[in-house]
Amino acid sequence: MIDEEMEEALNEQINAEFYSAYIYLSMASEFASRSLDGFETWMHSQFIEEINHGMRLYQYVNSRGGRVELGDIEEPKVKWDSPLEMFKEAYEHEQYVTGRINDLADLAEKKNDRATLQMLQWFIDEQVEEEESAEEIVDKLEMIGDDYRGLMMLDKELGERPLKTVFPIEGKNDE
Ligand code: FEO
Repeated sequence: MIDEEMEEALNEQINAEFYSAYIYLSMASEFASRSLDGFETWMHSQFIEEINHGMRLYQYVNSRGGRVELGDIEEPKVKWDSPLEMFKEAYEHEQYVTGRINDLADLAEKKNDRATLQMLQWFIDEQVEEEESAEEIVDKLEMIGDDYRGLMMLDKELGERPLKTVFPIEGKNDE
C-alpha cells in the first residue's frame, strides 16, 4: 500500500503530465495553423508522449493499491509569436517538470519508498532526453533566425519523428 502523501504527490504529477500534453497539443495546433506540418508532427508526438507519462503513473498508483483521482487541467496558452518562442517555452517547461520529478524522488527517499524511487528513475532518465531534445531545437531555431529555407529544412527534419503509440494497458495490447 502506498503512503498517502506519496499517492497525493503522484496524483498531482499525473495532472501535470496531462497538462503538459495539453500544452504540446496546443502548440501542435499553432504549427498546423502556420502550415508547418513537420513541427506539428513533432508536437503531436510529444503530446502522445505526455499522455503516456501520465498513464505510466496511473498504472503505477493503481498497482500499489492507491487511488487515482483526476483533477482539472489548466487551460494552455493558445498563441505564440514564433516557433522559437514556442520551443523556448517547451524547454523551460521541461526544466520545470524535471524539478517536479526531482521533488517526487526526494519525497520517495524521505518515505523510504524504494519501489516509487525505482519507478521514478525512468522519469529521471526521460527528463534528460526531454530537455536535450527541446534545447537542441531552440539552438537550431536561433541559428536559423529569419532564414526561411532553414526553417523549411528543420520542418522536414522534425516531421520525421515517428508518431508514438498510446501507452499499452497492461496485458491488453502491446506497444
Ligand atoms: Fe512528461 Fe515532457 O515530461
